Amino acid sequence: MKGLFLNNTPLSLYVHLPWCETQCPYCDFSITTDPVDGNDVRLADAIIKDIKHSSDLIADRKFKSIYFGGGTPSLASTQSIKQILNSIRDRLASSEIEITLEMNPNDVSEKKVEELLGAGINRVSLGIQSYINKELQALGRNHDRKSAIQATKILEDVNSTIDLIYGIEKQTPESLAENLEIIIASNVNHLSLYQLTIEPNTIFYKKELLLPDEGAIEKMEVIAKDLLEKNGFEQYEVSSWSKSGYKSQHNLNYWQFGDFLGVGPGSHSKISNKQEIIRYRKIKPLEGYIQNQKSADLKTIVDDELDMDLAMNLLRIKDGLQHQDLPIDLPASFLKKYQKGIDEGLLLKDKIGATQKGYQFLNETIQLFF
Ligand SMILES: C[S@@+](CC[C@H](N)C(=O)[O-])C[C@H]1O[C@@H](n2cnc3c(N)ncnc32)[C@H](O)[C@@H]1O
Ligand code: SF4
Repeated sequence: MKGLFLNNTPLSLYVHLPWCETQCPYCDFSITTDPVDGNDVRLADAIIKDIKHSSDLIADRKFKSIYFGGGTPSLASTQSIKQILNSIRDRLASSEIEITLEMNPNDVSEKKVEELLGAGINRVSLGIQSYINKELQALGRNHDRKSAIQATKILEDVNSTIDLIYGIEKQTPESLAENLEIIIASNVNHLSLYQLTIEPNTIFYKKELLLPDEGAIEKMEVIAKDLLEKNGFEQYEVSSWSKSGYKSQHNLNYWQFGDFLGVGPGSHSKISNKQEIIRYRKIKPLEGYIQNQKSADLKTIVDDELDMDLAMNLLRIKDGLQHQDLPIDLPASFLKKYQKGIDEGLLLKDKIGATQKGYQFLNETIQLFF
């Protein structure tokens, strides 16, 4: 018996480093274009304090994975990354856990990568988005094809993953294929392929964009599936493709409904604590967070909201999950809605997951739990 909310839920650590050189017009992440100089070390000190003050939430658990996301963590000095990692050495589940750091192409040099690996980073997530200059300009990125190719080459022998965006203005299925061919020819073992979303509060939201139509998007998805599968990549989540043995342990923990402690300005946490599951966030302003790492918008997740939360995470995993691999016993209300999905041919009987049809129309399938 697992019990609904016990403190043995697997726990990962997310460290938010908000630094960015410029604000990309499609991005709604919590970022700052304030200078990094010296502030990275002040932020690292605040993050270390934040983790220390979270010991009740961590309980006696060890971190199963660590992810430095942003923003652009590669703008922070390696010294500040080392500072954070050194402060939590005794909180790691083993010396082998996945420790990922996001890099932007312009920051990738042999020296920087070597330093980061020396500090304990063992996986790099490279924000390429596209290798095609026209597309990079349409996204307002501060790197070009040359920088993207060079960064991919430098990371050739490093455990790394690439982020690509599709559905960019003026992009065609052929130009997406060109992007994917470059990744396939490289040694990269993991790809996150995101459709461009137009988020409120971004510059793109206010602009008239000539985005590819639905037919072109569908074609892109078919081409991507075909090319990636032919070349040894398996889709294991909505946006995630990996070669055998290289699934992201950190992201899988989110989708399997594990816990995560988020530290850094604007980070989010989910913690199963005593009798409840809570979510909260940290305030966004950098200086405010450095001064005081207090939590905001603390919320207990129960009833319908818990069902939705479970569906929105668990059903993203393409092959589904065995009941015994879940960190909690599923609530009766969830199981009742799940049975309706089985009856409609959208959900699997023998494990928790979507059928082929249910996965193809995942948004509609998830609506069963609203
Ligand atoms: C934290 S973000 C940024 C990481 C890194 N700073 C960069 O920009 O390369 C992680 C990833 O989310 C994706 N992303 C961000 N905004 C997006 C949007 N509006 N639509 C689709 N993907 C987005 C990008 O692929 C990006 O690499
Ligand atoms: S997409 Fe990346 S580089 Fe651009 S503003 Fe967002 S976090 Fe910064």
